[in-house]
Amino acid sequence: MKTTDDLFNLSGRTVLITGGAGHIARRAAAAFLERGADLILVDRHRDVLASAQDSLSALGHGGTITTMTADLEQPEDVAELIQRVHQGVTKLDALINAAAFVGTDKIEGWGVPFLEQSLNTWRRCLEVNLTAPFALIQGLYPLMEKAPSPAIVNISSIYGQVGPDMSLYEGTTMGNPAAYAASKAGLAQLTRWLCTTLPSHFRVNTVTPGGVERGQNPEFRTRYIANTASKRMATEEDLVGVLLLLVSDAGAYITGQDIAVDGGWTAK
Ligand SMILES: NC(=O)c1ccc[n+]([C@@H]2O[C@H](COP(=O)([O-])OP(=O)(O)OC[C@H]3O[C@@H](n4cnc5c(N)ncnc54)[C@H](O)[C@@H]3O)[C@@H](O)[C@H]2O)c1
Repeated sequence: MKTTDDLFNLSGRTVLITGGAGHIARRAAAAFLERGADLILVDRHRDVLASAQDSLSALGHGGTITTMTADLEQPEDVAELIQRVHQGVTKLDALINAAAFVGTDKIEGWGVPFLEQSLNTWRRCLEVNLTAPFALIQGLYPLMEKAPSPAIVNISSIYGQVGPDMSLYEGTTMGNPAAYAASKAGLAQLTRWLCTTLPSHFRVNTVTPGGVERGQNPEFRTRYIANTASKRMATEEDLVGVLLLLVSDAGAYITGQDIAVDGGWTAK
């Protein structure tokens, strides 16, 4: 019988995380290192990756941390990234698609009413949030196929499951554009499609976080929390358990699922 340490053990496993310098990815990366994994962190900018690498190395868990820069909005960057991964490893045990185009209020045609949302920004969002994961999964497939129990985890959002309540954003500069929702819903459906079509040793799952506490507008925060069964926003740590479960042998029989870590937001 395997111990719980065996079930969650990641030594000898290589995990690639896109958006690897981001908040959720970085916290999960620390947990994977603690369990013995070797990591490949992918992100847009060299400096944020270097800072993630430094802070993760300082934890002293062992396991290698390789960083690779790529702008996932650029198909040529994605193709080059795939080549570099093939040159760097002989098998890939897990791929976590965590990078996302989340926009800002400075981006034209993003967090604005529907009729003002632009096709160009829609395309940018879909490129990063849906097309790049598709291309990466396809390009890295030959490396993942060689792993005994390859795991793909696509990070979606509650807005990939339910429509937004725009009254939450009233009086703030925050928005909730159609492109983000559609890209995340598409990612969750890509998960199901891959689950039933890839070879049976693959596991493909979606993780759906609720809103993470990041100093948002206080009025938004109060309204958001009032709509949440757990009566708080998420923390990065809330995502660690499910991500570790899905990449390790503890989650060996979980595939095709969309697991919400949202304090009950989507239960209503
Ligand atoms: N924070 C939340 O409230 C929340 C809620 C639901 C879902 N999510 C999802 O969780 C995931 C992680 O989010 P987070 O909160 O850690 O965000 P984050 O912004 O801290 O991390 C995202 C990372 O993706 C990288 N990235 C963005 N565009 C990229 C590109 N074109 N190429 C390469 N890298 C790119 C960013 O540089 C960043 O490091 C995302 O998929 C996000 O949509 C977050």
